[in-house]
Amino acid sequence: MSSVPVITIDGPSGAGKGTIAQMVASHFDWHLLDSGALYRILGVSANHAGLIPAVDEASFKHDLSVNQQQNITSLATELSIEFVINPRSKEVEPLVNSVNLALQIRTDDAAQFASKVAAIGSVRDALLDLQKNFAKPPGLVADGRDMGTVVFSEAKVKIFLTASAKCRAERRYQQLINKGVGANMRALLQSIEDRDQRDQNRSVSPLVPAADALVIDSSELSIEQVFNQVIDYASEKVV
Ligand code: C5P
Repeated sequence: MSSVPVITIDGPSGAGKGTIAQMVASHFDWHLLDSGALYRILGVSANHAGLIPAVDEASFKHDLSVNQQQNITSLATELSIEFVINPRSKEVEPLVNSVNLALQIRTDDAAQFASKVAAIGSVRDALLDLQKNFAKPPGLVADGRDMGTVVFSEAKVKIFLTASAKCRAERRYQQLINKGVGANMRALLQSIEDRDQRDQNRSVSPLVPAADALVIDSSELSIEQVFNQVIDYASEKVV
């Protein structure tokens, strides 16, 4: 087992994991793994390669065939994925086979593609080493769904951050409105519920808190309150 300290932050989409993981990583000056970005990259790339249909096609709801699953797994092993810092925005952006997919992976369709490919066991296995390699000194904050249960099951600190679906949809709605993008509350709530349903009920690495995770419900909490709870809890264990 690696001796690099790891803090895992798992939970459903929109609970604030990404923001909290970034804040915690910069607080300790540790590396950050956004594992959802890997599934989004693979989902978008699989769609570009014609291996999964568009979200609005009726066949999107069908289970993927064994052949499709094998092709997506091969794609997962072939993609060259690199994360670079955009010098202007300072945001971390993915280069996939040298193409910057920063914008494409942040759409709601990309999230749906991600949860579709994430339900394939062989895909999750193919991405395992890539994720484990993010654990480098002085430490790692890993954000995802199965960081504490599977990928870093030996982590010293495990957080499960959740919030009600309604609250998560409202936050996403506000984010989109603030960006000047139109949004439909009912469609957002539906998309979050569909994704929760797929993530929680899949047979491989379903979204569940690790037995030794601290569960935080952020529905009624500010980002600062969540951050402080995580730092108080983590500092006792990793510093
Ligand atoms: O966290 P994010 O919303 O970017 O993740 C997109 C999708 O990728 C999730 O809905 C989930 O299906 C999948 N995912 C996963 N395991 C992870 C991270 C993300 O299955 N560790």
